[in-house]
Amino acid sequence: MNKLIAKALAGPGRLAHDELVALLRDAPQEELFAAAYELKCRYVGRKVALRGLIEWSNICGKNCYYCGIRSGNPSVHRYRLSEDEVLECARWTCEQRYGSLVLQGGEVESEEHTVFIEGLLRKIHAFAGEELGVTLSLGEQSEETYRRWLAAGAHRYLLRIESSSPEFYAQLHPASHSFNRRLECLRTLKRLGYQMGSGVMIGLPGQTYDHLAGDLEFFRREDCDMIGMGPYIPHAQTPLGKGIELTPQYKARQLELGLRMIAVCRLYLHNVNIASTTALQALREDGRELGFLAGANVAMPNVTGQKYRPDYELYPNKPCTAESAALCCACFDSRVKAIGEEIAWGRRNDPPHFQADAHNP
Ligand code: 5AD
Ligand code: SF4
Ligand code: FES
Repeated sequence: MNKLIAKALAGPGRLAHDELVALLRDAPQEELFAAAYELKCRYVGRKVALRGLIEWSNICGKNCYYCGIRSGNPSVHRYRLSEDEVLECARWTCEQRYGSLVLQGGEVESEEHTVFIEGLLRKIHAFAGEELGVTLSLGEQSEETYRRWLAAGAHRYLLRIESSSPEFYAQLHPASHSFNRRLECLRTLKRLGYQMGSGVMIGLPGQTYDHLAGDLEFFRREDCDMIGMGPYIPHAQTPLGKGIELTPQYKARQLELGLRMIAVCRLYLHNVNIASTTALQALREDGRELGFLAGANVAMPNVTGQKYRPDYELYPNKPCTAESAALCCACFDSRVKAIGEEIAWGRRNDPPHFQADAHNP
C-alpha cells in the first residue's frame, strides 16, 4: 500500500484503475488521509477557500430518484428568492470577504430564467468586479445560455455527473434524463472557458468500487478543475431512499467512504479544488473538518437567508438550516482554526489546475 501511495504522490494520473480500487477499498485510513492532506498542503498550503452558497430557488424540473426536492415530491414548499434578496446575500458574501459565491438552484430552462440570472450576474459584477469569483450551479442548459451567463460575469460552473457510468446513471434517473446531454453540457462549459466542476454521490445503493474508480478517471479524462462529491444520504420521500434506515452504522460507513473518495481523488488528480461538502457534516458534526484533513480544500457555507434554508432539503439532517449566515460564518471559522487550518479570506482562490492550464495552453 505504501508503494501505491508513493506512486500517487509522484505525479497526477499515475494510478491504474485497479490501483484506484485498491486504494479506495483497502488502504489504511490513517496513511491514506495523511498522504492526501500532505499533497493538498503542497498545492495550496494549510488554507481553506470559501464560497458563499446562495440556494436561490428549489423549483426544479427534474425528478432524480435520490433528491428531496425532485419535482415529484409534493410535500416540498417551493420558493424563489427575489432579485433584491439574492443581491443582498451576494453583497453580504462580498463584504465578509468570502472571495467567491455560488448561485445554486433547481434546473429550469426558459428564456425568463436565463434573463433573470443574466441580470443578477451583471448587477453582482457591477459592485464586486473581478475580485469575487462567481460560480453557477443551475443544471443543464443550452450552449447559448451558458455563453450569455459567462459574458454576464460568471467564472465557474458546477454540474455533477452523479455517476460516470451511463448504465448506473440510468438507474438513478427517470428515462427522460439523459447522461449524454449532461456530458455534452460539461464539455461545452469547458470549451467556453468556464472553470468546470463536476462530482458524484458516494455510497449509492448498487454502486461498486469499480464505479467510484471510474468516476475518478472520468474527472481526469474530462479535465475537471473542481470536484464536489458527497456521501449519498437517503431521503424518505424519494424512490431511492424509501425504507433505508439512517442507523449509526450506516452513517459511519457513508462518512468513511466519502472521506476515502476525497483522499484518493486528491492523490490521483493533485491540483484540483476539492470541496468538503455539507453532506459530510450531515453524517457527523465535524464531518467537513475531516474532509479537509483527507485532502479537500474548499467549503461552501450557506449564505441564504434563514427563512428559506429548511426548504432546500436535498437530504435529511442538512446542517446549519436553523442558523443565520453570520452565525454559520463565525462557527465555521472556529472549526477551521481548530484543525490548524486558516480561511483564505478575500481571495478568489481559483483552482491551481485551471491556472496551470492557462499557463500551458
Ligand atoms: N444525498 C446526497 N446528495 C444528494 N444530492 C441530491 N440528493 C442527494 C442525497 N439524497 C446532491 C446531488 C446534486 C446536488 C445538488 O446534491 O449530487 O447534484
Ligand atoms: Fe433537481 Fe438537482 Fe435535485 Fe435532480 S438533484 S431533482 S436536478 S435539484
Ligand atoms: Fe453552520 Fe456551524 S458551520 S452553524
